[in-house]
Amino acid sequence: MIIKEARFISSHTALANLPKPNLPEFAFIGRSNVGKSSLINMLCNQRTLAKTSSTPGKTQTINHFLINNLWYLVDLPGYGFAKTSKKLKNEWAGFTFDYLKKRPNLLCTFVLIDVRHEPQKPDIALMEWLATKEIPFAMVFTKTDKLTTNHVNTHVASYKHFMLETWESLPEIFITSAEKKRGKEDLLEFIDQVINSK
Ligand code: GTP
Ligand code: MG
Repeated sequence: MIIKEARFISSHTALANLPKPNLPEFAFIGRSNVGKSSLINMLCNQRTLAKTSSTPGKTQTINHFLINNLWYLVDLPGYGFAKTSKKLKNEWAGFTFDYLKKRPNLLCTFVLIDVRHEPQKPDIALMEWLATKEIPFAMVFTKTDKLTTNHVNTHVASYKHFMLETWESLPEIFITSAEKKRGKEDLLEFIDQVINSK
């Protein structure tokens, strides 16, 4: 799959205002600063399509991008950002979880995980929640340019090992770097397959 055109469509917090759910949709979720917006830009070959920042908490709404006029990529707000007020945190969690539960055209959610970190409670809790709700998801390790290849491999292996202590099987896993454009073909091929299997 080649992305020929990527266009910002809308930014909302109310489910009722989102674009009509008439096209396949893929969402990116994960801790603040993990690289969701950067990964979307990398996939779309654009630097500033989704707004990024070195300060966590940049994306605060549900952002739709229309790809090739055929499907949507969705950038979501991050979680686990300590400086956000409790009220805002609850608000984001409310509309984000609502979106994940109720969006009928959401074909897969990509859960992003910074490859440098040990398994973190909020990420594991999110994936358990997705599994319980039978919401399809895949795991995406980000920022792999910050480690050597050997370290990336050992971190991913130990993350998998940790999960397999409680999970029967693991979802699809992608190894990426927005900086080095790593993982782009794999992700786009997966998206293509999911769209075509519907
Ligand atoms: P929120 O919107 O706050 O939830 O964050 P986000 O997950 O969208 O992260 P964002 O894409 O804004 O990136 C956060 C910071 O990480 C920025 O300074 C990016 O330049 C940096 N970053 C993102 N991806 C990569 C990567 O693959 N490698 C490196 N080295 N830095 C990255
Ligand atoms: Mg963002």
